Amino acid sequence: MSIQTKYIQIATPAAVQDQELLEAAQIIRDGGLVAFPTETVYGLGANALDEKAAKKIYEAKGRPSDNPLIAHISCYEELEPLVTKIPQAGGKLARRYWPGPLTMVFPKSPAVPYGTTGGLDTVAVRMPSDPVASRLIALAGVPVAAPSANLSGRPSPTTARHVWQDMNGRINMILDGGPVGIGLESTIVDVSGPVPVLLRPGAITLEMLRDTVGKVDVDPAIQGPPAEGLRPKAPGMKYRHYAPRGELTLVEGESRAVVSAIRRLVEEGLAEGRKVAVICTEETRDQYSGGILRCVGTRTRQETIAHNLFAVLRELDDLGAEIIYSESFSQDHLGRAVMNRLMKAAGYRVIQV
Ligand code: TXA
Ligand code: MG
Repeated sequence: MSIQTKYIQIATPAAVQDQELLEAAQIIRDGGLVAFPTETVYGLGANALDEKAAKKIYEAKGRPSDNPLIAHISCYEELEPLVTKIPQAGGKLARRYWPGPLTMVFPKSPAVPYGTTGGLDTVAVRMPSDPVASRLIALAGVPVAAPSANLSGRPSPTTARHVWQDMNGRINMILDGGPVGIGLESTIVDVSGPVPVLLRPGAITLEMLRDTVGKVDVDPAIQGPPAEGLRPKAPGMKYRHYAPRGELTLVEGESRAVVSAIRRLVEEGLAEGRKVAVICTEETRDQYSGGILRCVGTRTRQETIAHNLFAVLRELDDLGAEIIYSESFSQDHLGRAVMNRLMKAAGYRVIQV
């Protein structure tokens, strides 16, 4: 069944007017679905306290309903009714990094329905800094459950056009606030236990978390393929996410060796008549020829790579790339988040050279 999707262009996202958001806020209060920009990726929002609304999110995304949603709030006071306790580490991290690209997992209060948490007794909460997101949540007057606004299995949307591609006819409204700033989903930290655990790396890096609260553990699901029978703590981590339609392989090693290996692989693919693409950087773009070449950013500024990665993966889908080779990145700071997404997109296929 198709529904009419209203598209609203926000004139000046940094100084959004309440008037531009009133209809969207009403749709959320009425149990409908609104896609909106955040500083990380576009979200698909519904009333987090309304189980039926949460169900609609799963339908629109084609997403398994055991995958819990993040509840978005606009100020600290909105956290208290959602949780039974705010552990010390959670309070510290909130004061330092909220509003911003950090999601924290707390023990949930009875106010949060299991339909929102995928049956878990914990709830993930985030306070976005994006002015459109923040004001929309405040005007809705309810916490807003929002996964990334993509169809399940596709890269998260970083522009309203990406959302339109995936969600037109499936949701009530799309708010276009321009391209997002960061381009990768928020960092997720579980603060419900004795030691905080990083469940998903993002722009609030492990280094930044440790700087604030000392010891932070890392969920093994971040580093590699989910081990047989091992349940990742963020249920979403078990699905093949961020997947382009083409077969993506990462090539890891010293820069010159990587370039020559990719050049050879591209030639082989082209010789077999396949549509081959390469994801490279400013530093190496002049060294490739043949196939579709996409530069994802510069190694001197990791944030450029984070910002462009999902858009590049989508573009390669649109171009019908069948085989994709990508350079790899260092796994420190924001690079940890970039490599986490790339590894998942590649189904952990890596060639060492
Ligand atoms: O940046 C973001 O976080 C974006 C924007 C829209 O805010 N949202 C987002 O949502 O990325 P989503 O649904 O695509 O990813 C949420 C992740 C999933 O991997 C899910 O399993 C995990 O958060 N999660 C949610 N609630 C959880 C909980 N109670 N315990 C552990 N993991 C949880
Ligand atoms: Mg997602």
